[in-house]
Parts: sequence; C-alpha cells; structure tokens
Amino acid sequence: MDFNYSEEQLLVQKTAMEFARDHLLPGAVERDEKMEFPAEQIEMLGEMGFMGMMIPESWGGSGFDTVSYCLAVEEIAKADAATAVPVSVNNSLVCALLLKYGNEQQKEKYLKKLASGKLLGAFSLSEPQAGSDASNLLTSAVRDGDHYIIKGTKNWVSNGINSDLVMVFAVTEKGVGYKGISVFAVEKGIDGFSTGKKENKLGIRGSDTCELYFDDCRVPAENRIGKEGDGFSIAMTVLDGGRIGIAAQALGIAQAAMEKAIAYAKERKQFGIPISSFGAVREKIADMATGIASARLLTHRAAELKDQGKPFSKEAAMAKYSASEAAMSASTECVQIFGGYGYMKEYGVERLMRDAKITQIYEGTTEVQKLVIARSMLEEA
Ligand code: CAA
Repeated sequence: MDFNYSEEQLLVQKTAMEFARDHLLPGAVERDEKMEFPAEQIEMLGEMGFMGMMIPESWGGSGFDTVSYCLAVEEIAKADAATAVPVSVNNSLVCALLLKYGNEQQKEKYLKKLASGKLLGAFSLSEPQAGSDASNLLTSAVRDGDHYIIKGTKNWVSNGINSDLVMVFAVTEKGVGYKGISVFAVEKGIDGFSTGKKENKLGIRGSDTCELYFDDCRVPAENRIGKEGDGFSIAMTVLDGGRIGIAAQALGIAQAAMEKAIAYAKERKQFGIPISSFGAVREKIADMATGIASARLLTHRAAELKDQGKPFSKEAAMAKYSASEAAMSASTECVQIFGGYGYMKEYGVERLMRDAKITQIYEGTTEVQKLVIARSMLEEA
C-alpha cells in the first residue's frame, strides 16, 4: 500500500475542503436546526463533479478512484455530515449500482444525469420489518405484461423526498427468500408512488429521510435492473461500496471533533492553566488521534482494494465499524472536553455527537459489520 496520495487525490481533497469551508460550514447549524435539505449545495457539488465521482466521464461522471471519493466525502462531512448523505447515497449506492448492473439503455437514460448531478438518486431496501434482516421484504413486484405492479411500504429512505429516481428492492417471487428479490429504477411522480413525511431525526437533520408508499404502482419492465432474483446480491455488493463512503463520512465527523477539542483544550483555562495540560484531556486526544488514524488506514485500504478489483467486503465492514466507533467516541469526548459549553448548541459540538450516531446504524449496523467480519474470518480459517 502506497501511503502517499497522488497529486490528483490531493487536488480532489483540497477542492472539497475549500467548498466545504465556503459553502457548507456557514449554514450547517441552521440547516440542522430547521431540518433543511442542502439543495443549493448539492446542485453545486453536482456541477463540480462530486455526485458521480467514481463513474467514467463517458457516463457523465468524473472518473476518480475510490480513495479520492473517500477524501472528498471526509472533507464534506467534516463541515456538514448531513450534506455527505446525499453525496454518499448518490455516488456509492445509486450510480455504482447502475454502472455495475444497468444495461446501456438504463445508463444512457439515468446514469448520465445522476452522475452529472442533474438528477438525485435514492436507494430503498429497508422496510419496517426488514432492517438488518434485509431479505425479509414484503414489498412485491408482480409482472403484468410489459410492466411490474409494485405494492408495499419502504422506510428509512435517505434522499426519499428530494430524489428524482429510487432504486427499489421488491419481491418478484414469493417463498424463495432472498432469491426472489429484484431491483427496479422507479421515477418519482408516477402514479401509485408517494412519499411519507420528512422524519424528525436525532442527527444528519439536513438530509431527508422518509417512508415510500407503492400502491399498485406500474413500473415499466425495462426499469428492472439485472435479472429477476438478482436483487439481494446486487444490494449486498453495492452496500459493500456504500460502507466505505459511510466510513469516510464518519472520519469527517471524528476529525472535526478532534480539531475542535484540541483548539478548545489549548484555549480553556481551569485551575490557572490550559486544560490541555491535564493528563485526562491528553489521554482523550491521544485516543481520538489513534482511533481516527487507524480507521482512515482501514478505509483507504478498503477503497484501494475496491479499485484494484479485489474482494473488499470484510475490509469495508472493518472500515465502517472502526470509523463509526472513532466518530462516536471522538465526538462524545469532544463534548466532554467542552464540558457545560459542549452541551450548548451554540458551540456546535453536540451536532457532531448527534450526527456520529447514524454512522453506527445505517448501511448496516455495527453488529452487522461484525457479523460480516467474523463470517469472513471463519470462512478463511
Ligand atoms: N456481496 C455479494 N453477495 C453477497 C454479499 C456481498 N457482500 N453478502 C451476501 N451475499 C449473497 C450471498 O452470497 C448469498 O447468495 P448465494 O447463496 O447465491 O451465495 C445471499 O447474498 C444471501 O447471503 P446471506 O445468507 O449472507 O444473507 P443473510 O440474510 O444472512 O444476510 C447480512 C446477511 C450481512 C445480515 C445482510 O442482510 C445485511 O447486510 N444486512 C444489513 C442491511 C443493510 O445494510 N441495510 C442498509 C440499507 S440502506 C440504508 O441504510 C438507508 C439509506 O438510505 C442509505
């Protein structure tokens, strides 16, 4: 593994950092407070090529590698983790799915627009009874001539409200478990497809999350992606890549927390000296720095394996597990270092703690990541 970033990777990181500093940080607290989607910022990120980063230019993307993508997502999340949600979902779940599994017609119709930021995508696998047990779907898609009729309820859909196109997983054959799941690209605005209310969340409040309702919704058969029954394996493969993006998002939150904690600890005096002189505070900073550095290595290793076309499922799970732990721990300890001030909204560190929590939950909980890692270790032994 080369520990030096290429000039291109560093340029991507710098561009993302400057954008985040100028366009994300200023309104982040307000958007969090008002649960306001960063629509203008997502449009700008699309124009800058950040919505289809790993998609070849011929399909409307910017053709960067996964390490560049991680560096960009980390910078974005460092300023505003809520904005990193639509970026991550569109890049690593929706565009990646279409690039790998879409046919030429589907790529021409949808991928070009999604990768260039003209459309925003969402990924809808979960249902009220199917979270970690992701194949336990009830939403059905029944073939009717050259259409499928989709019926059911999906939930926890990031970008659910603001997206133009949703990757919907549904059961096309009952009684055969995960082998009966297929995936469809479903356009917003078609009859029988509606969205629920915007969920009032603990963190990443600027991103939108909602339920989706399909009431005998007729979707053209040509919008099925891959073969009938391939849906679950498509979801799992795509989620492996998605987990690298969530790890990068978690790293951004953790890095922001550590930087804020260090700056405050050097400035804040108690008992006549800066609190950074106290062993208890130094220990927290050492733990933050070590947790972040090791999670970043795991994340970039998973990204590199993905780019090399090698298996990376276990490594992506390790990256997400370690980075989300680093984010939760660094943000909690940052609030602790800030003490009473940290508990107040105006100091802007409690937002990091609230935002960090979701990284241990979505795109596979910490417990699911451990299951993936342990299974892989036992199979290898
Ligand atoms: N890549 C490719 N195929 C995979 C795979 C992977 N990583 N993992 C499993 N599969 C395949 C298996 O090979 C198997 O197929 P074969 O029999 O043909 O080999 C099939 O899928 C079933 O696999 P399992 O028996 O392992 O399935 P399981 O039911 O035991 O589930 C699980 C395993 C890891 C728990 C999985 O269900 C899982 O990852 N759950 C979490 C789901 C998740 O991450 N949800 C997030 C949804 S998106 C979101 O968060 C919201 C948003 O808007 C971003």
